[in-house]
Amino acid sequence: MTAARHVAIIMDGNGRWAKKRLLPRALGHQRGVEAVRRVVRGAREMGLEALTLYAFSTENWRRPEEEVSDLMSLMKRFILSDLEEFAEAGVRLKIIGDYKAFKPDVVELVEKAIARTAENSGTTLAVALNYGSQDEIARAATKAAAKGPITPETISAELDTADLPPLDLLIRTSGEVRLSNFLLWQCAYAEMLFTDVLWPDFTAEHLREALEAFATRERRYGGR
Ligand code: FPP
Repeated sequence: MTAARHVAIIMDGNGRWAKKRLLPRALGHQRGVEAVRRVVRGAREMGLEALTLYAFSTENWRRPEEEVSDLMSLMKRFILSDLEEFAEAGVRLKIIGDYKAFKPDVVELVEKAIARTAENSGTTLAVALNYGSQDEIARAATKAAAKGPITPETISAELDTADLPPLDLLIRTSGEVRLSNFLLWQCAYAEMLFTDVLWPDFTAEHLREALEAFATRERRYGGR
């Protein structure tokens, strides 16, 4: 049995959660933030070294302006309301992706949050903001090439996730079975769990079950 060290989640289904209840999409995202809160607490209590969450992809800019702005204000509010609790609990915040393309107030808040938790050594919460995996790989390969020969190791060392443990488990909620340009390189040997649960309904218990199932799987990395 091997315990998972690093779990990543594609948090999908906020819109469908709201639609099913004839509620505005914004409320689905709001409930999605509550799921983030539960899962980060759970990850910390379960001793995960790293949790990576796909919060905003490079494709999400194509959503209506109002929805993009709702997501931004939810993220700001989440930092303002929850940062202290997580910082006290030893969580380190890290961002993957080009978050500097966001509005200056969001960038400033994110940077303060990173600085506030920089010395922490508990669970790393890596939030993917304006993130796209093909872009990340292209950037890493460019940097690796400038330093010497390109190998899987030299590329890995330049990825945004270079300081995180190898990805053990990728979870996607809401029944969609695709990677949507998330952690393509890091998924090379990761286990995958696709669940029909919509993200706002995802609980720490779902995470616990996923970790237990992971621990019983035998990973062979291509060997026998
Ligand atoms: C997918 O649901 C979800 C997103 C695009 C955004 C995820 C963001 C959050 C949960 C909130 C902010 C995050 C943090 C870290 C505070 P969807 O809208 O694609 O759902 P649908 O496919 O059912 O329409």
